[in-house]
Amino acid sequence: MVQVAVFGFGTVGSGVVEVIEKNQKEISKRAATELNVKYVLDLRDFPGNPIQDKIVHDVETILGDETISIICETMGGLEPAYTYTKKALASGKSVCTSNKELVAAHGPELIALARENNCNYLFEASVGGGIPIIRPLNSALTAEKIDRVYGILNGTTNYILTRMEKDGADFETVLKEAQEKGYAERNPAADVEGYDACRKIAILSSLIYGKNVNYENIYTEGITKITPADFAYAKELDCKIKLIALNETREDGKFAMVSPRMITAESPLTCVQDVFNGILIHSNMLGSSLYYGRGAGKLPTASAVVGDVIDCAKHAGKNIWCFWEEEEETLCDIADFKQKYFVRISGLVEDKKDAVTAAFGETKFVTTKEVQGEFAVVTSEMSEREYHEAAKKIEGILSMIRM
Ligand code: HSE
Repeated sequence: MVQVAVFGFGTVGSGVVEVIEKNQKEISKRAATELNVKYVLDLRDFPGNPIQDKIVHDVETILGDETISIICETMGGLEPAYTYTKKALASGKSVCTSNKELVAAHGPELIALARENNCNYLFEASVGGGIPIIRPLNSALTAEKIDRVYGILNGTTNYILTRMEKDGADFETVLKEAQEKGYAERNPAADVEGYDACRKIAILSSLIYGKNVNYENIYTEGITKITPADFAYAKELDCKIKLIALNETREDGKFAMVSPRMITAESPLTCVQDVFNGILIHSNMLGSSLYYGRGAGKLPTASAVVGDVIDCAKHAGKNIWCFWEEEEETLCDIADFKQKYFVRISGLVEDKKDAVTAAFGETKFVTTKEVQGEFAVVTSEMSEREYHEAAKKIEGILSMIRM
């Protein structure tokens, strides 16, 4: 029997306990041993809940118990999760986590510490909730040269954008719904300002390059400025608006960024709705592959954590190699990143057509009955630097969404 401890009995932690209980038979077969949750670390008590008997308030009780070999860190946040994880790994206990903040900030150090101590630091649940994406990058796709990751990596914002588009729902109301469903972060700015997606694309980028991509160097823009008018234009253009986290290795360098994008109907990501995430990977042998599923929520995320626990149980005393070194990977300035732009401009097409064409070159003009007193254009492909230079020459630019 393998003794497990869970750090944090919140949404994901309580899900971990539930998954281990509900799928006990399947888990025992696949892990070739039984998993037993011996302790749950939390500051709170849960009177009336059967978990109460396992609640401990002092982490040392768990770290000092030699029978515990695997810890699920589902506390979230940097501290005390960082300190507890380091202590656990240093004493040879494997740690499985959903904590993307900690993985993005200290991933390579914790992976190295696990390696030194013949145990594991696994983090499948840190990106894409229940979707297998870390394991494919670490195993099934290791023969590939990956040149592009294009992903919807945040369930909360995808839920918000889907409900705004489909039902005309208002931003604040839908955000509240996402919080009630257990999708949103404690501080929802992490979701809506794009910081969560930024950490997730930093993790994926680091695994692709094998070197550390610092999330603080990734240009990040959230969805708070998206309005119903943007959705009206998107409909005209047969596009969807999605928060996209991307990593691309182009001839002119390596790029990563997070921003809302208008994506055309041909992209399979237009079908990714509600809390679902979708990650489109392009690599040189396989071509395109798509990873899709529930990107947030209690049981999907907990299932990914427990999958890691089973892997740790199967590899007791052995380290599963993960290629993510502490050396920093340098990304290019997104000023050089080329793409098309959707731009809203106040006034009438006939008054501004010449100036807009002179600034942006070949341009598609768009109007919609639902929005008066303005029009929009889709530019040809140009770098961010060229776009900003051109935009300075046009009066009345209201907003821009990348395409
Ligand atoms: N708040 C996150 C999201 C949770 O909405 O995607 C899963 O990481």
